[in-house]
Amino acid sequence: MDEVAWGKVMYMHKAKVVVTGGIHPAGIVALQKQCTVQLWQGEGTIPRSLLYEWLQDADALVPSSGVKVDQDLLSHGPKLRVIAQSAVGYDNVDVAACLAAGVPFANTPGVLVNATADLTFALVLIAMRRLGEALDHARSGRWQEGVPLAFGTDLAEKTLGIVGMGDIGTAVARRARASQMRIVYNNRSRSSVEDALKATWMPLSQLLSEADCVVVLTPLTAQTKGMFSTKEFQSMKPGSYFVNAARGSIVDTNALVTALQQGLLSGAALDVSDPEPLPTDHPLLHMPNVVVTPHIGSATNETRRKMAELTAENILLGIEGQPLRTQVVAR
Ligand code: DGY
Repeated sequence: MDEVAWGKVMYMHKAKVVVTGGIHPAGIVALQKQCTVQLWQGEGTIPRSLLYEWLQDADALVPSSGVKVDQDLLSHGPKLRVIAQSAVGYDNVDVAACLAAGVPFANTPGVLVNATADLTFALVLIAMRRLGEALDHARSGRWQEGVPLAFGTDLAEKTLGIVGMGDIGTAVARRARASQMRIVYNNRSRSSVEDALKATWMPLSQLLSEADCVVVLTPLTAQTKGMFSTKEFQSMKPGSYFVNAARGSIVDTNALVTALQQGLLSGAALDVSDPEPLPTDHPLLHMPNVVVTPHIGSATNETRRKMAELTAENILLGIEGQPLRTQVVAR
């Protein structure tokens, strides 16, 4: 914070932080102790023109994941010293443009691993044990009428195919090992815990043909956008299950709907979708063998608090010109 002498009184210029929403209140409280916070509390994403107005004199920005951080935005924030987001995924951020503008960017890796892995493994269970249909069965009265219910499948001795073996993929693999699943995975680099988890790397095509349940956990990049389309669903083991807990647009939604309608897959469980949110009349929300959760991978009180506190810490470090705790350097 800059000090300015004015007469005999020392005034502190508080740095201004623009927050566009999507952050636990603990982060706002931490920022407000040292900064002036301008917070978007309206419905939906902040209008771009208003955001640009707010950025004119802002020292820092906490964007929500619906805000595209690109060269144009950076040019409207001439004083920006740091940008930090309360999420591990940062497909909305042009990190190279931030670095070129001299504005470091940080995300929140690490703190959300367990919460997101728990939710992802819950989706594996929901899909393979057909829990969506079981819940409908009990709620709709079909149970009480004695209507038979389709059975799910054992997890033990089945193969889980993890696409994207980062920290969250590894934590999901640990949970799956506890359920005696065999782990195969595909990732750009080999996992250092391959031996500990008895996990086998394989090409995507082989993974798709061997896995009883495929779990997508890879980041959204230019290379992974639309990675799962008709060809991939047709290559999956017949009757297998599909889980996406990463980003909706890694999957071609229409191709997934078709694969489910054609019975190529037994079911799907999705924490993310494209578009997001799905319109209420979307087929994925009305298929008995599909469960959709509203992008809640990291959504526990404890985890969202830790993410917000880490975000605030990164912002305060950036304002002071210090290295950020979790700066993103390159993809
Ligand atoms: C993340 O942290 O990336 C979650 O998916 C929330 O966007």
